[in-house]
Amino acid sequence: MNYPVWDVPLIGSGWVIGAIAIFHVMISHFAVGGGFYLAFAERKARRENRADWIEVIRRHSQFFLILTGVFGAVSGVGIWFSIGLASPESTSALIHNFVFGWAMEWCFFLVEIATAVVYYYTWDRIEPALHMKLAWLYAASSWCTLVIINGILTFMLTPGEAWLSVAGTGHEASMFWSAFFNPTYWPSLVLRTIICFALAGVWALLTASRMNGFEKPLLKAEVIRWSTRWLVPSFVLVPLALLWYLSSVPESSRQLMQAGISTIGSGMFTQVTRAALVTTMSSATLLAVVYFIAWRNPLDFTPGHAGAVLFLALAATGATEHAREMIRKPYTVGQYMYSNGVRKSDIALMNRAGYTASSPWAQADMSTGELMFRGQCMNCHTVDGYRSMRQLMRGRDRKAIGNIIAMLHEAPKTSPYRNFMPQLVGTDQEIDSLITYLDQMVNPKPVPNPVLAQSK
Ligand code: HEC
Repeated sequence: MNYPVWDVPLIGSGWVIGAIAIFHVMISHFAVGGGFYLAFAERKARRENRADWIEVIRRHSQFFLILTGVFGAVSGVGIWFSIGLASPESTSALIHNFVFGWAMEWCFFLVEIATAVVYYYTWDRIEPALHMKLAWLYAASSWCTLVIINGILTFMLTPGEAWLSVAGTGHEASMFWSAFFNPTYWPSLVLRTIICFALAGVWALLTASRMNGFEKPLLKAEVIRWSTRWLVPSFVLVPLALLWYLSSVPESSRQLMQAGISTIGSGMFTQVTRAALVTTMSSATLLAVVYFIAWRNPLDFTPGHAGAVLFLALAATGATEHAREMIRKPYTVGQYMYSNGVRKSDIALMNRAGYTASSPWAQADMSTGELMFRGQCMNCHTVDGYRSMRQLMRGRDRKAIGNIIAMLHEAPKTSPYRNFMPQLVGTDQEIDSLITYLDQMVNPKPVPNPVLAQSK
């Protein structure tokens, strides 16, 4: 246990990352797809000599700059803050492997942001041909940020055999490229690129919905229909790309999904399957709303409808990212590091030498049991809120709690928990302290009151 634990009551630290990340994904994917949207829209307007379109695109580029340059950038930094606090050990492992990946990422990001600013401020100031080039430069550099970060994100799910064979030896950097172009790299890049295009359409519908349909009915209808077409590829290609992606994830992750699908009737419906259902249903509703309102009746398309489209897209994106996070459980780096920062290769050592023994965070006012709970369980559980330990353990006495803990500690091949919970590490004495701590949490025993005792 090398780092302190960030205690976020009720929602848990994981959801702080989750909330920021889902918000960031919505905006960052828009930043990528929106770059292409602006470039294609401007090209169309220039070719057809449409001053009214140029005006619409210019307004959209302002919205674009504020949303991506402010909210996208701030939420991106927010991810860094939150992952560093919630999972310091995993964040450190990623930085040690991918420091040059991030260096490249930031170069592209700098070009992206600078170009977006120049693009917005030079609509009437430079030659149209040069302005067009800026649009393509923006689109290319922002897509490159996806190309880079996708390598790091997919690495976490499937680091690949080559990297795993050197993990922990100090020679990880020699496998940089095979870790980067890991087994899920390409399907994920294709999938995310298609989603970028769809989100470009979704956000463009938001600005288009605010156009005055009475003053310029033709223009509004045209812009809305043109933006709607950006969503079409996703309806056809996302299912195909998803199948490709799923065929590249490890067997154990797929099983987690199938277990849920085949047990819908009997109630053991995993969280992954539930999230996949939300994705499917919100995408289907999205398709219906976009087709029947935006495409068929563009003039009736109000900001309220655009908000609904945005919300459905948020639900679909959020549920998909959540499912992706869940199939990676119990790891932050597949087969290498558990979500709570314990390296798989350290299990034997920690069972012998102890989990808390050498920790600089062992405090006089915190029992070993509490430290074990904080260090090894709180990454995924809270005491009373999300995945509440008190709730999950309710009705169990000390012996029954002991049985579960033993199961987590020994992690036999038959244990159903292996699919989503890390192996619990520690000496016998530490494990016993954890059981005592949990027993006290679940079955609080009245503390003898010295004043009352005296008065008797
Ligand atoms: C990687 C994330 C993760 C970590 C770390 C983790 N758990 Fe869990 N745990 C889960 C998930 C996911 C579930 C399923 C929750 C649900 O069904 O709502 C779960 C369920 C449980 C349950 C209920 C099991 C049942 O059969 O009802 C218990 C008890 C539990 N965890 C105890 C612990 C303890 C104790 C620790 C620390 C030693 C721990 N967990 C660490 C993810 C985790």
